[in-house]
Amino acid sequence: MTADDRPPPQVFVLFGATGDLAERKLFPGLYKLAAASRLPDDYAVIGSGRHSPGSDDEFRNTVRDGLRDTVDDIDDDVLSDLVQRITFQTSDADDGSDLADAVRQARDKLGADARILIYLSVPPTAMRPMIGMLGREHLTDDARIVVEKPFGTDLESSRELDAALKEVVDEEQVYRIDHFLGKEAVQNILALRFANGLIEPAWNRDHLESVQIDVPEELTVEGRGSFYESTGCFRDMISTHLCQVLGFVAMEPPVHLDATSLRNEKAKVFQAMRPLDPERVVFGQYEGYRDEDGVADDSDVETYVALEAYVDTERWQGMPFYLRTGKAMGGTRRTVTLTFRSPPMGRFGDRTYGSNQLVLELSDDAAVGAHLMAKRPGPDLSLMPVSLHIDLAEADPDGDIPLEAYERLLLDVMRGDQTLFTRADEVDRLWQVCQPVLDARPPVRPYVEGSWGPDEALALPGVSGWRLPDESGE
Ligand code: BG6
Repeated sequence: MTADDRPPPQVFVLFGATGDLAERKLFPGLYKLAAASRLPDDYAVIGSGRHSPGSDDEFRNTVRDGLRDTVDDIDDDVLSDLVQRITFQTSDADDGSDLADAVRQARDKLGADARILIYLSVPPTAMRPMIGMLGREHLTDDARIVVEKPFGTDLESSRELDAALKEVVDEEQVYRIDHFLGKEAVQNILALRFANGLIEPAWNRDHLESVQIDVPEELTVEGRGSFYESTGCFRDMISTHLCQVLGFVAMEPPVHLDATSLRNEKAKVFQAMRPLDPERVVFGQYEGYRDEDGVADDSDVETYVALEAYVDTERWQGMPFYLRTGKAMGGTRRTVTLTFRSPPMGRFGDRTYGSNQLVLELSDDAAVGAHLMAKRPGPDLSLMPVSLHIDLAEADPDGDIPLEAYERLLLDVMRGDQTLFTRADEVDRLWQVCQPVLDARPPVRPYVEGSWGPDEALALPGVSGWRLPDESGE
């Protein structure tokens, strides 16, 4: 990117600036964009929230320390340049006048073409009052607003939130963030499918037996107990990240790869998704969750979900999608596995065949694997399983360093590109799909920390089971 490609000057207004997401992802994202010369030449960062973190200098020190902890090989010059642009201004839902003054002053200083980017990293319940305040202060007038997930807590609250948003901004100004869409590997699903004659013809119910979207995490709720108590795994991960990945996997070929075409196709998948059947959803809670800070002694909140879903289109009718994610599990992976139907058996004796699988690793080290059958060397015509593994970064050693999801998405907001952000109709439909589970919550079953979840979940995909954990560890 040359200096000319840099976005115009920006005032970043960051609600939740002292929170966990800001420390782990947003400030590191800004730092890395700055280090790669991808930020505008001129910008200001104004943190905001109800409680003051102290003077501007104290807040800068906190951000500086946080960045030193989270970013490797930090460049001191880039760090000081970023940190000296940061200030903090308290605000709350009732009074945002000081914040509005601070934002206007910052924008005036940056010049006539400066833009305002408001990032709402606050819990769903705090979102609506905050939006009202921003509207009253006219801070939203020509701003772009980034809204963190989950968008609402159910269908009704998400509709109320959307109505509140639409009172102050147009859909073109709203960037509903789901950071899984910023992962390189998720976008690679499009490349794999739509650029490969080998793969696309088989990407359907005729050739596939099932698709698994599996996102186990070893980490526990780790200091996010009170967030989890109000959100739970189903809203935190399923109605958002995993369903969005499903949208990418299941969409029809978009006419173009622009925001309108791509989001139209994704929205069609969600329209065709059958509302979830609570009988085919398993909730779990890891043993020890109730001892976490901020968690009730008798909490019934799920930290694990496994479920079966269907997309009623010609391409997918009757073929199950299995989604699973949870905290404190036996491994950390972000994997999509497409299992192919087996050809008629018998030719090779009565050995048990493994099914062919295409495995997409959606982690930061994006990879694609294929599990096939081949002839075992030797005098007999017998079979053995073989694997192909492609590490995308290794395949392009001289390529750009991939952007971390939040970096990529922050850059897209500055450029005004909504392609990888979710649209109001998608979110609305996903809540419709998920609402039956919220209305009839499945019983929450305990599971041992470090395991793969309750037995009922392990049995969900039937005899073929979950692909993870696998023996090869690939
Ligand atoms: C967040 C969830 O949105 O995504 C977390 O709130 C989860 O609970 C995280 O751990 C996973 O993201 P990533 O980028 O580490 O795969």
